[in-house]
Amino acid sequence: MTALITGPTAGIGLAFAELLAAGGEDLVLVARDATRLAAVAERLSSDHGVRAEVLVADLASEAGRATAAERLTRDDAPIDWLVNNAGFGLNAGFLETTIEDEERLLDVLVRAPLRLTHAALPGMVGRGRGRVVTVSSMAGWTPIGTYAAAKAWATTFTEGLAVELAGTGVTATAVCPGFTRSEFHERADMPLRFLPDAVWIEARTVAEEGLRAARAGRTICVPSKRYSAAALAVQATPRPVLRGLARLAPRR
Ligand SMILES: NC(=O)c1ccc[n+]([C@@H]2O[C@H](COP(=O)([O-])OP(=O)(O)OC[C@H]3O[C@@H](n4cnc5c(N)ncnc54)[C@H](OP(=O)(O)O)[C@@H]3O)[C@@H](O)[C@H]2O)c1
Repeated sequence: MTALITGPTAGIGLAFAELLAAGGEDLVLVARDATRLAAVAERLSSDHGVRAEVLVADLASEAGRATAAERLTRDDAPIDWLVNNAGFGLNAGFLETTIEDEERLLDVLVRAPLRLTHAALPGMVGRGRGRVVTVSSMAGWTPIGTYAAAKAWATTFTEGLAVELAGTGVTATAVCPGFTRSEFHERADMPLRFLPDAVWIEARTVAEEGLRAARAGRTICVPSKRYSAAALAVQATPRPVLRGLARLAPRR
């Protein structure tokens, strides 16, 4: 079996790649940094005896999405797991960002999973098996910027897929982490050192719980007991209250 993972060079995607390889899955690794991709592929294939292909692709570009989509449609080397994980954040409000930044965000967080999932599903449904895992976020239940809007799309997209895929042997799972240790905040220049240790979870926990949920055919997974409880609380909070709280969030 083979897993295609976007963003496997760091953080949550790397943890998914490590766990899937440890379970014997061959890998197709998709990201921009060719050097890091090659290093991850070499390490995981030598540690676990699996095949690891590398696809250098910028998922913010049409060409990058087409490269990954084309690999997902190959019947001679089928993909059984699609992990839509690549992502980044913007540390600025909508009034401060450029339209180029916003479109790049939408391309990577929305257009890429849409295109890749659309490419993967006909083969998966035809074979009667497959798992689509999309890394969304707890942020998707909050009214905090276009990142949250994109993650709300990812979660609702997955729920719609899960309904449509019932009975096909293919499952769709949205993994909705809270604050996770990775390169995400540093890359976005978001210094969150003021947050207590207790709010952080490990990328490995996210991937372990995400894979368990996907194997069980669950549609939504909020990794860790802490964040599962927080997700219930956020979803039970009236939207006007959430908007009021969002106004208090620190701005750059
Ligand atoms: N960390 C958190 O607190 C947190 C919480 C909730 C949800 N998430 C979500 O979890 C997912 C993974 O984030 P992470 O925390 O693991 O971040 P990370 O450590 O910064 O890793 C991001 C990965 O995405 C890849 N990537 C970024 N832009 C890309 C592009 N344009 N094309 C292809 N690959 C791209 C990066 O590789 P290259 O740079 O080599 O392209 C890297 O492998 C994201 O969808 C994020 O929104 C994170």
